[in-house]
Amino acid sequence: MQLWRTKPVERILAEEAGGPYRLRRTLGPLDLTALGIGAIIGAGIFVLTGVAASGYAGPGVILSFAISGLASGLAALVYAELASMVPVAGSAYTYAYASLGELVAWLVGWNIILEYVVASGAVAIGWSSYLQDLLASAGVFLPPALAKGPGAGGLVNLPAVLIVAFLTLLIITGTQHSAVANKVVVAVKVGVILLFLVVGANHVDPAHWRPFLPYGMSGVVHGAAIVFFAYIGFDAVATAAEEVRNPKRDLAIGIIGSLAVSTLLYVAVAAVVTGLVPYTALNTASPVAAALLSAGIRWASALVAVGALAGLTSVLLVTMYGQSRVFFAMARDGLLPPVFYWVHPRYRTPMLDSLVIGSLVALIAGFLPIGTAAELANIGTLSAFVAVSVGVLVLRYRRPELHRPFRAPLMPWTAVLAAGFSAYLMFNLPSLTWWRFVVWMALGLAIYFAYGYRHSALNPAPRPDIPLRRLELVRPVFKKFRRPAGS
Ligand code: ALA
Repeated sequence: MQLWRTKPVERILAEEAGGPYRLRRTLGPLDLTALGIGAIIGAGIFVLTGVAASGYAGPGVILSFAISGLASGLAALVYAELASMVPVAGSAYTYAYASLGELVAWLVGWNIILEYVVASGAVAIGWSSYLQDLLASAGVFLPPALAKGPGAGGLVNLPAVLIVAFLTLLIITGTQHSAVANKVVVAVKVGVILLFLVVGANHVDPAHWRPFLPYGMSGVVHGAAIVFFAYIGFDAVATAAEEVRNPKRDLAIGIIGSLAVSTLLYVAVAAVVTGLVPYTALNTASPVAAALLSAGIRWASALVAVGALAGLTSVLLVTMYGQSRVFFAMARDGLLPPVFYWVHPRYRTPMLDSLVIGSLVALIAGFLPIGTAAELANIGTLSAFVAVSVGVLVLRYRRPELHRPFRAPLMPWTAVLAAGFSAYLMFNLPSLTWWRFVVWMALGLAIYFAYGYRHSALNPAPRPDIPLRRLELVRPVFKKFRRPAGS
């Protein structure tokens, strides 16, 4: 029955407030909205729009973006309620712990790894292609062995690995200047998208929107399941909870604000892209820049490529940052080894978490294909959305008296629809993705039973005789970073 034990909200808040390791509270509502936009607008709009329009939805990709935006918007309302009520770094993982129990919480945390680590790998690969496009236009070419991963005919995708290493250092050395760097990058990418909309709108030919639904509504829904990738990231705002000055108010603003801005921009960009060229011409890795090129607007095309590079950089920055905060929360609960619950004394950031995550992302970015990673990220995120939506209902029913600074409107329908919509999009993903997802979940279960189940901070007493402790291969390091007494 231990598997279903929940962690009371009061205990979660007390542990955060009384824990020996605290993060620095520096972020305000604008930082959070920028953080959200930084995580959201990236490979989804700059790369996958073309895949979804040419292969699935045609000009109906405009509707695909609207459908995924609606599903994400419902989930955002639910996230905002929970984030304002339980403002701690674990986000969906912590909400599931408070509502659905330890096993589900672990699986949600495990799937957030799919979301953040795997998506970051995919985005780094996209970043590398945009960089190489720009270099090529200046006549500079990388040796093929260092330009692509083994699946694409190279040895290692070196630019992707280098950008991940650089951003990992930035994240380790402090949240404050990561936030400043993020705001600059967000301003560049939103500026470039607005420029695209203004310049592109003047060249739209409505004839390109006919037929609007070449593959019918089923094409639109499949397209929605793919472009859902574009919305991943608003939940990263919730992972910053312990670094926010006024989390009860500002988290909801950051989550809902960043998603609203991104949804409007996406639908508008999808409309202009499909209006600029026939949808069949969008089968390229850089559809937004390519659409401008074929409309003959060369200068804007180069600018959009620069903006895309900036956009992908901030997605990477925020998703890798968000993942380190989820590890931090899971280690505080004992489900991950205590080394991950250690804050660097000078930088006050969970340095080891960021190093491990940076290394994993670099491995994916350097050696894996991009498509596989993006689909897996979608299924992992959608499953977390389902769990969080069910979790908010459970807490409303079981703990109606808890203070909720932000209340999702039209409950329970908002949560029921958020869960239903997310599950529906999951079922529209390819069956191969489902199989990979099942394997990932099985691996997660094995790790939980081998480690987390025995080391959970909810266990009544420490059990030093557990033979599986031998699994802790880096024992000296573990001793050094042992959980402080009484935490
Ligand atoms: N939403 C992020 C992107 O589009 C993951 O790249």
